[in-house]
Amino acid sequence: MKVVTSLSAWRSARDLELSSKKTIGFVPTMGALHAGHLALVKKSKAENDLTVVSIFVNPTQFNDPNDLKNYPRTMAEDEEKLRSVGADYLLSPEYQELYPDSYRYFVDESEFSQILCGSSRPGHFRGVLSVVMKLLNLVRADRAYFGEKDFQQLKLIEGMVEAFFMKTKIVPCATVREQDGLAMSSRNRRLSAQERELAPAFYRILTTMKSLDEAKAELGRLGFEVDYLEEHVGRRFGAVKLGAVRLIDNVAIGGSTS
Ligand code: PAF
Repeated sequence: MKVVTSLSAWRSARDLELSSKKTIGFVPTMGALHAGHLALVKKSKAENDLTVVSIFVNPTQFNDPNDLKNYPRTMAEDEEKLRSVGADYLLSPEYQELYPDSYRYFVDESEFSQILCGSSRPGHFRGVLSVVMKLLNLVRADRAYFGEKDFQQLKLIEGMVEAFFMKTKIVPCATVREQDGLAMSSRNRRLSAQERELAPAFYRILTTMKSLDEAKAELGRLGFEVDYLEEHVGRRFGAVKLGAVRLIDNVAIGGSTS
């Protein structure tokens, strides 16, 4: 695996690979990689000649400075994991190179980004869409892989790619769960042992409770702080806090539970 940190080095590598007409799959991440990320890398490897993974903890999508500060950073472990699944490139750019305009320019959406995580995390999706637009333009992949755990993010990225006639195909990938049902997330490692034990109840309640009111009451009773629990586009979406850790999840209503 080649590790590339400067954009000029990346552009040279990209041009070289482009001349050999290889297809490129891209997995953008913020690091602290887990089996969910590695499933995206494996899918990309199965569908493309080359797989590029980016690791960039994107400050513009954090509305809470403490969340940004505490976001897990595990570069050495991440590199090892990526090598073990055979990623071809790791791109990990610096903020100054990725934001030469100091975020004067951005991409935004005015409807679906305003609800759910968008209403509790103002500016979050503007930061996500802007960085994903930059990364997609730099990597120029044939396909890019995103997990359905962040379903709202996935739909907004699909919409952006369509709205701006971008060439990369967005490939949705089912949420990867721990054996007890908890959706894999980089934030899970910040849960205390006691919180980790309680965390799978979030998914269980999301999938089994008939009404949102019942689900909210049960989550509250168990000690979750409910940020939102809502149904849209045939899915039930939830965001909760366990101590200082915010967890999100979503499931299809009355269908598959991925
Ligand atoms: O899902 C994530 O990890 C991030 O939101 C993404 C897509 C890498 C953009 O920073």
